[in-house]
Amino acid sequence: MSVPTPTPADKFSFGLWTVAYQGRDPFGDPTRGEMDPVHALEKLAELGAYGVNFHDDDLIPFGTGEAEREAIIERWKKGLADTGLAVTTATTNLFGHPVFKDGGFTSNDRAVRRFAIRKVMRNIDLAAELGADTYVCWGGREGAESGAAKDVQAALSRYKEAFDVLGDYVTEKGYSLRFAIEPKPNEPRGDILLPSIGHALAFIETLERPELVGVNPEIGHEEMAGLNAAHGYAQAMWQGKLFHIDLNGQTGPRYDQDFRFGAGNARGAFWVVDTLLQGGYDGPVHFDFKTPRTEDEAGVWVAAAACMTNYLVLREKSQAFRADPEVQAALEAARLPELSIPTLAPGEGWADVRDEIDPDVEALGARGSAFEHLDQLALEHLYGVR
Ligand code: GCO
Ligand code: MN
Ligand code: MN
Repeated sequence: MSVPTPTPADKFSFGLWTVAYQGRDPFGDPTRGEMDPVHALEKLAELGAYGVNFHDDDLIPFGTGEAEREAIIERWKKGLADTGLAVTTATTNLFGHPVFKDGGFTSNDRAVRRFAIRKVMRNIDLAAELGADTYVCWGGREGAESGAAKDVQAALSRYKEAFDVLGDYVTEKGYSLRFAIEPKPNEPRGDILLPSIGHALAFIETLERPELVGVNPEIGHEEMAGLNAAHGYAQAMWQGKLFHIDLNGQTGPRYDQDFRFGAGNARGAFWVVDTLLQGGYDGPVHFDFKTPRTEDEAGVWVAAAACMTNYLVLREKSQAFRADPEVQAALEAARLPELSIPTLAPGEGWADVRDEIDPDVEALGARGSAFEHLDQLALEHLYGVR
């Protein structure tokens, strides 16, 4: 297998904040300079990307005056036209400025909450104008470090209120935008509200317009919580809620590493790709990674290209795995087709199950599941010996 080359048909997208990350961390200053957003567009297009996305403040620094804002947007639009890149999603920075230190939508301070909603509406107008169809909401500061400081039930009511108001906004404006909530367990807050895919899915059902809201799960965030990211993506698809994806790398429960996709838990990455392909996910394949601060700008582009390469490699491996006759036989032996058969036959009810004669449970209990063979075939595909 040779190293695959990405093309726009692969629908790869990158956040402006990913490639422009300067390497600032809690212990050290930036190791790279600022990146011109239009330069980022040019480099991403050259590497074969399809789209970009951005926080309002990535493009238009917080506090920029109206005239300058317009000039930045015009230049950005020209950059998009020149490179042919699409704006796939947009999002709001509700975490950087000190005003958001206790959150945006769920800050204890009502004036901050109203400002946060206004800041989102303003960038939604721009997102709609640029053709984005998904609006990502990562509530990084919606949380707490201590117990009594946050009334979680009240905070969730305010969280719901924000999505209800924003749902009214996009509906009344006639925008074809849907929201995608991005769960994360912690960092930068000690604990963040809606910490996992499951929490977010349950929350969405409480909203006035649940059909407008889905999830944007990030591999690393699920793995920070020790969860199986592929299973989370699968449940989101099963519920029709996988509106967008953030792919990256993480090595287990620790700080948010945001490694390039395919680094970190490679086996987990394989199953995420396989799950997306099996589930028919057809949205943009978005990478949310941060190049380590050891690298200069050349290293940033190595890492960005590697995200796409690794996705293509894993896509090929997943396809080869599924096409392999030995794998198909192993799936059969592991009774996968049987799981798709409803437990009750058409027309049956509880009485048919209750009145049935028990199977030979000793024989069933003694029968092997043949899962190890199936999993080993997957690993042999992943390790490149099949
Ligand atoms: C993180 C988050 C962020 C969000 C981004 C979009 O690394 O903790 O993933 O990168 O995805 O802010 O809202
Ligand atoms: Mn992250
Ligand atoms: Mn993310």
